Amino acid sequence: MSNYYEIIFSVLQLTSVLDSMAYFTVVFACLSGYLFLTVLANTNNILFNGDYEFIDLTYPFDKNTIYWPDSRSFEFTKKIGAFQNDGSWYASNEFSAGEHGGTHIDAPYHFKVNGKYVGDIPLDKLIVPLIILDVSSKVNNDSNFVLYKHHLDYMLNDNFGKPCFLIFKFGWSKFAGDRTKYLGVNKNNTLNFPGLSEEVAEWITSSYKNVVGLGVDTASVDPGSSTDLPVHKIAAKAGLFNVENVKLDQPVPEYGCTALILPMKITWGSGAPLRLVAICPKQIPLNF
Ligand SMILES: *[C@@H]1O[C@H](CO)[C@@H](O)[C@H](O)[C@H]1NC(C)=O
Ligand SMILES: *[C@@H]1O[C@H](CO)[C@@H](O)[C@H](O)[C@H]1NC(C)=O
Repeated sequence: MSNYYEIIFSVLQLTSVLDSMAYFTVVFACLSGYLFLTVLANTNNILFNGDYEFIDLTYPFDKNTIYWPDSRSFEFTKKIGAFQNDGSWYASNEFSAGEHGGTHIDAPYHFKVNGKYVGDIPLDKLIVPLIILDVSSKVNNDSNFVLYKHHLDYMLNDNFGKPCFLIFKFGWSKFAGDRTKYLGVNKNNTLNFPGLSEEVAEWITSSYKNVVGLGVDTASVDPGSSTDLPVHKIAAKAGLFNVENVKLDQPVPEYGCTALILPMKITWGSGAPLRLVAICPKQIPLNF
């Protein structure tokens, strides 16, 4: 037994670079069968060292927020906003809205009867590596564009296997200020905006690719003109969630960011408003 303490003591002497309190904690943790990694690395030292930035990919919720035609829009009611008798200010409001409008999540339950509700989607699917697939130059503002597998040839088999969230950039955020243009509302009340093909949805959800969710900078993962919504059905069947109306009007690195996909935790929700944030390595502006 005394040998045992001698060994620990000599190890402590050898590791003068380590803070001895921290070292004791590690030794204690190892002996008790736990290792508290927070002793060795601090998330804050990484996130706030100036090398990373937080990018908001969320549209604000107000009277301009775009909702699906058959859905209740965002209704905001000012209830109280007044100085009180003692001179202090007090404000409190109410809101109501459909689940599927603005920047929002579709839970698998949206299109699968025993799929997960919003409240059941675990955090390890909501905080994941982000990959942005910029196909906007192929779309070229065409509201009838449908994304097929051959458009993605350059990234086939690239980066897959690890859990990740894919956002498809159709270049549609620039129309977000004009609801008619963004949704492509026609005289006959049909919609027209770009989307994914059934083929791409099948490819993404097939076997080895560990994609946990699909995002788009349009109002739906299916093309606006779709009536049977196969991409929604295929994604839900595979347990994926969708994120629609991603705000992509600023440059975001295609690789290397982490997505924080944090919906309101509505217990039985088929969808919910979402705050979508990317944590990205800082982009260094190139000035010539
Ligand atoms: C796409 O639409 C934007 C905004 O209306 C416009 O500035 C741009 O020139 C268009 N691009 C093409 C290729 O037509
Ligand atoms: C509605 O109008 C658009 C273009 O204006 C057309 O492409 C589409 O086929 C029409 N849909 C129906 C159901 O008539």
